[in-house]
Amino acid sequence: MDPSKRLWLSFPVSLLNLIFLVSLFGARPTFAASSISAEQSLSGDQTLTSSPGGNFVLGFFSPTRAEPRKFYIGIWYGKVSQSQKTVVWVANREAPVSDNTTSELRIAGDGNLVLLDRSGTLVWSTNATSVAANSTVAELLDSGNLVLRDGSNSSGRVLWQSIDNPTDHWLPGGKLGLNKVTGKNQRLTSWRNSEDPAPGIFSLEIDPNGASEYLILWNQSRVFWRSGTWNGQIFSLVPEMTSNYVYDFQYITTPEENYFNYSMKPNVTLISRFMMDLSGQIKQRTWVDNTGNWILFWSQPRAQCDVYMLCGPFGICNERSLPFCSCLRGFSEASPGSWNLSDFTGGCARRTPLLCPRNGTSVNGGDQDRFLRMDNIKLPDNYRLSLSAVTSAGECESSCLRNCSCTAYSYDGRCSMWFGELTNLQQLGDGGGTLYLRLAASELPNSKSSKGKIIGVAVGAAAVMLGAIALALALLWRRRRRRFKALRVVDGTLVPFRYGDLRWVTKNFSEKLGGGGFGSVFKGTMPDSTQVAVKKLEGIFQGEKQFRTEVSTIGTIQHVNLVRLRGFCSEGTRRLLVYDYMPKGSLDTVMFRDCSPVVDWGTRYQIILGTARGLAYLHEKCRDCIIHCDIKPENILLDASFLPKVADFGLAKLVGRDFSRVLTTMRGTRGYLAPEWISGVPITAKADVYSFGMMVFEIVSGRRNSDPVAEVKNWFFPTWAASRLGEGDMLGPLDPRLHGDARMEELERVWRVAFWCIQDEESCRPTMGQVVQILEGVVVVNMPPVPRSLQLFGDKPESIVFFTDGGSQVASSNMISSNSQNKSTTSTSSMD
Ligand SMILES: *[C@@H]1O[C@H](CO)[C@@H](O)[C@H](O)[C@H]1NC(C)=O
Ligand SMILES: *[C@@H]1O[C@H](CO)[C@@H](O)[C@H](O)[C@H]1NC(C)=O
Ligand SMILES: *[C@@H]1O[C@H](CO)[C@@H](O)[C@H](O)[C@H]1NC(C)=O
Ligand SMILES: *[C@@H]1O[C@H](CO)[C@@H](O)[C@H](O)[C@H]1NC(C)=O
Ligand SMILES: *[C@@H]1O[C@H](CO)[C@@H](O)[C@H](O)[C@H]1NC(C)=O
Ligand SMILES: *[C@@H]1O[C@H](CO)[C@@H](O)[C@H](O)[C@H]1NC(C)=O
Ligand SMILES: *[C@@H]1O[C@H](CO)[C@@H](O)[C@H](O)[C@H]1NC(C)=O
Ligand SMILES: *[C@@H]1O[C@H](CO)[C@@H](O)[C@H](O)[C@H]1NC(C)=O
Ligand SMILES: *[C@@H]1O[C@H](CO)[C@@H](O)[C@H](O)[C@H]1NC(C)=O
Ligand SMILES: *[C@@H]1O[C@H](CO)[C@@H](O)[C@H](O)[C@H]1NC(C)=O
Repeated sequence: MDPSKRLWLSFPVSLLNLIFLVSLFGARPTFAASSISAEQSLSGDQTLTSSPGGNFVLGFFSPTRAEPRKFYIGIWYGKVSQSQKTVVWVANREAPVSDNTTSELRIAGDGNLVLLDRSGTLVWSTNATSVAANSTVAELLDSGNLVLRDGSNSSGRVLWQSIDNPTDHWLPGGKLGLNKVTGKNQRLTSWRNSEDPAPGIFSLEIDPNGASEYLILWNQSRVFWRSGTWNGQIFSLVPEMTSNYVYDFQYITTPEENYFNYSMKPNVTLISRFMMDLSGQIKQRTWVDNTGNWILFWSQPRAQCDVYMLCGPFGICNERSLPFCSCLRGFSEASPGSWNLSDFTGGCARRTPLLCPRNGTSVNGGDQDRFLRMDNIKLPDNYRLSLSAVTSAGECESSCLRNCSCTAYSYDGRCSMWFGELTNLQQLGDGGGTLYLRLAASELPNSKSSKGKIIGVAVGAAAVMLGAIALALALLWRRRRRRFKALRVVDGTLVPFRYGDLRWVTKNFSEKLGGGGFGSVFKGTMPDSTQVAVKKLEGIFQGEKQFRTEVSTIGTIQHVNLVRLRGFCSEGTRRLLVYDYMPKGSLDTVMFRDCSPVVDWGTRYQIILGTARGLAYLHEKCRDCIIHCDIKPENILLDASFLPKVADFGLAKLVGRDFSRVLTTMRGTRGYLAPEWISGVPITAKADVYSFGMMVFEIVSGRRNSDPVAEVKNWFFPTWAASRLGEGDMLGPLDPRLHGDARMEELERVWRVAFWCIQDEESCRPTMGQVVQILEGVVVVNMPPVPRSLQLFGDKPESIVFFTDGGSQVASSNMISSNSQNKSTTSTSSMD
């Protein structure tokens, strides 16, 4: 029978077959497998799951739901549950396919892993082999590496692997380096924007000239950041990128290659990734399951605005705003679509064209271009011309005006002019220079009126002037009166100040007392001659209302051992806090300055006890428990009688645009950081206890814990103290300037408290309330085991201490043995 006839005849059967086929096709089972071999292909919703752990998944993904759909083959985390996939590698980053069901990933006849689109056209290939090899297998490993192997078993030769062809992520186990033979540099390239994995403008690579350092480049041409060379242990500018208790980090140089590789320590279960971010920064993030978030561990360059050309031409970067980039006045986003997707590199375009060039008409004719004054600007670093002959601001302005390509000038005794695009402008809080930006007259307010009107204005002006003078005098008088009224500090209430008043009080912020992670502090004198400390906050991204709520919470917290908040100011983007002034300054200046007089033992004990009371109050007695997050000698202030007062509490929350910002701030004070800051466990008040413990060591020894001692390599005081105490020598680690003049029972308590506080396991550390009780002698504790981190801290104080196993620790419930004689259940915090 003719086959076609037969088809017709057996129609019902064929239809059944067809239905069966369709249903098979429609419900293709998802791969449980971790590999693709010659007979298989992957499309639609099918995925590969790495084995045996299922850490990573490979399949089609689409970064956006926008039409037309674009699909990519990618690898993402399998165990990280987040609303969005965290994609760590993309195959066809430059060549998306439009449909995921008809495109397929398969092993081609030539043995390569290929992506074919709907029409069977080759979209992407591993390009690793040209020999026909029908036994190659592509396998996804638990390290996130997709490996193309020759042969069907795991010992086959590796032909190609994704980890050697990174996109924007550098995963543990991978290497990033230069092949000196082929000249191929394995660079990480950022995505183009948050929805487009195509190579963007920023990239990270090892120095192609052979130095052992990393560079971040803009447009693969301009180097704007260097890691500093590898000294065998760290990069001089990135101490975070080193071998420690989490990572192994290694530099390897062979005749063929220079590269770095890193891997996680065998027992570490942390999920961590390193990437070249859209923001032009390299970032290391770790996954914190409890928060369901990636937490920023560190980033470089540290300041977002140090990224070259981040905001594009005529954009301006501001560390204190979000987003960081905005357009200069008179300009608007050149491509608003990409700004929305965190790609600012397109910059801004002029809204109103300049009049210049005027094609023959006189420059002095009608509306000229004019200049907008911009203060506190980090001046653009692209080409500028300095005119030494010009000696006045007016002359500088007219020189710029005369040349049509001059877009801005500045005059600080010397005339500088910029031509063409302005780039890398940065808005600073203070300092910097004044830039005059050329704009069309209509972009500026009170545009000059025509000549006819000028006469009228001149006549009127004289009359108005007299009135204005009278008004100004009246205003001045009123303002002075109001200022006195506004600045009267009513006891117990938080005073909202005006910025102008605070400027006046601090004599235009002239006397700087210090600067910390949150901003600079200035001394001020109120009209009634009480002295105050005015803190100008930086990096605050909170709105007015939220700021006021937080501040009023802080304002209600009052304790003798906490610095008192008197008032605040919130005007526009300015946020200031007004505190009591502490005449003796901070603990570090009292303790560690060579010239400062020796603080006797009794005072030191009072400082330790007072600080503990202040913290106990913050942690346990306030309505909302406050974790300080930044306990260190710089944040303990002393009043005239050396009474300690904890400063800056509540600020971590106030500044916390997000957790990572706080963490970045913390990085500076590594010695005081509890291990959980790094391990990503949620931070509790016990993190403060740890920092307090570290600080106690410094108070007792009168020196910084990590001050290097000549001829003792990698000195770390607590480690050394532990060994001395182990030998029963309690006085050895005491500040030698005290000549052993200390009360032994107090000293013993202090040592024990300090060691309990710095236990690795937070549950082993006492609460601040318990610390107070121990110091007061109400509760007696024995000497704890020396924390494991301390034993190891010694050999690498630079590195970050971190543990995942705390099995050998003593349970916290066993720790405190109450002293039966003077056992007390009363609260030990003295409150006012
Ligand atoms: C494949 O495409 C369809 C239709 O566009 C979509 O519903 C589905 O979620 C896609 N699958 C994947 C894995 O993206
Ligand atoms: C593979 O080779 C082709 C032709 O040489 C090239 O166009 C393509 O970019 C290469 N693909 C990859 C992923 O290297
Ligand atoms: C594929 O494998 C089969 C059996 O292993 C072999 O006979 C055949 O020659 C191979 N084909 C190619 C193109 O290598
Ligand atoms: C793996 O494959 C290679 C050749 O591809 C073969 O020599 C070897 O015996 C195989 N090993 C196992 C365990 O099958
Ligand atoms: C980046 O460099 C390429 C050539 O090297 C150039 O064509 C392109 O315009 C540059 N991109 C930008 C944004 O300047
Ligand atoms: C780096 O690569 C070398 C050679 O492959 C290997 O021996 C070493 O263990 C790797 N180091 C790390 C930290 O992964
Ligand atoms: C890792 O953990 C196992 C089992 O918990 C232990 O036996 C082994 O010593 C640990 N390895 C390291 C390097 O700590
Ligand atoms: C950018 O985002 C804002 C709000 O998210 C939206 O209103 C605006 O239309 C977006 N612009 C573009 C060009 O997508
Ligand atoms: C100036 O004149 C030239 C040719 O006469 C013309 O192409 C150009 O657009 C003019 N420029 C302006 C700003 O009018
Ligand atoms: C404007 O200044 C630039 C840079 O000095 C110069 O090259 C150009 O010729 C000047 N144009 C005019 C019209 O003077």
